[in-house]
Amino acid sequence: MFGKRVNVRVLKTNWKELNLLIVNSSWTLNLMKKSNSTKICLGIEATADDFGVGLLDFEGNVLANVNNAFIPETGGIHPREAARHHAKVAGRVITEAFQAAKIDPCDVTVIAFSQGPGLGPCLRTGATAARALASYLNVPLVGVNHCVAHIEIGKLATGVKDPVTLYVSGGNTIVSAFDAGRYRIFGETLDIAVGNCLDVFAREAGLRPRDGVPLGAAVENLATKGETFVHLPYSVKGMDLSFSGLLTAGVRLLKKGKYRLEDLCFSLQEVAFSMLTEVTERALAHTEKTELLLTGGVGANKRLQMMLKIIADEHDVSYCVVPKQYALDNGAMIAWTGILAHEHGTSIPIEKSFVRLKWRLEDVDAPWVKV
Ligand code: ATP
Ligand code: FE2
Repeated sequence: MFGKRVNVRVLKTNWKELNLLIVNSSWTLNLMKKSNSTKICLGIEATADDFGVGLLDFEGNVLANVNNAFIPETGGIHPREAARHHAKVAGRVITEAFQAAKIDPCDVTVIAFSQGPGLGPCLRTGATAARALASYLNVPLVGVNHCVAHIEIGKLATGVKDPVTLYVSGGNTIVSAFDAGRYRIFGETLDIAVGNCLDVFAREAGLRPRDGVPLGAAVENLATKGETFVHLPYSVKGMDLSFSGLLTAGVRLLKKGKYRLEDLCFSLQEVAFSMLTEVTERALAHTEKTELLLTGGVGANKRLQMMLKIIADEHDVSYCVVPKQYALDNGAMIAWTGILAHEHGTSIPIEKSFVRLKWRLEDVDAPWVKV
């Protein structure tokens, strides 16, 4: 048995198109031989358009963080097309992660996967890959909440301990802070996410994601050339936000053809980011936390970063922006949160590892957080 090399081909699920080659012929397992005693978690992220794999040791060192994004030819993300993409690239991304980390699959101690919230077909593809790996490697499986993972990797990457977090992406807009065992939501969008608002506006304006430049960044570039503010609806309701009216109004003005696109991008950003800043500032004042963390893809926006810096200074709190590779969806954040959960006794039997499409941040116990 010792040193036996096994080629493992996995999985036919109930979804016909998913013939997932987790481990291809160039990827061999040495099941009996552990190369060292370092504990390592492999995390799989597949909530939406990205298929990401992270490998971290239990000290929080990132050994690999490999991502492969689904880019639709036109329009937004179609969940089944994205899932098909994930199934196609899964084996390659996992292999690349092991190569980058220079470790063997048998060195993995835990498998973590994004269990929700997210798009059903994408989540199921990632979960299938994770279950297969956990089963073949005979290691525990941990289901991770994607939103918690954004916060935890942000804390790891920046060193903040107990922040108010503004998490802004294509699918989420959440202001949160830790209280009484869980990350609580202090404010969130009532309809679409801010990133979705920017993306749809950009598509309506005929912009396309090019050379890896996301649509939100294309809006940002045009906004820097804006000169005139165009009135658009500002919609904060208590601590919550609404972006759909802003988007509709922006698109309507765009179609009128009376305004420069640069001015509309500038105005859209000013209104959307002022709304986010207002709610975040109120959460800071209410919680009296002394740290502010900005994460998610929209967090790459310099204007948003600048607005938050102003309130952080006014409230005399320290302010951190999560580095891009960990602010966007990534496998490292899933692996790290999997480690935290596993260290506190959390794992999930394969037969109960169903995905949770609407799993809310505040429904997750986080016993590892000590504040
Ligand atoms: P989630 O599953 O967390 O909702 P996501 O799949 O939307 O995440 P992210 O990569 O975190 O993924 O965020 C993507 C969003 O970030 C897109 O809406 C994109 O347009 C936006 N974005 C990226 N760069 C910028 C930028 N510089 N300015 C504004 N928005 C940006
Ligand atoms: Fe995300």
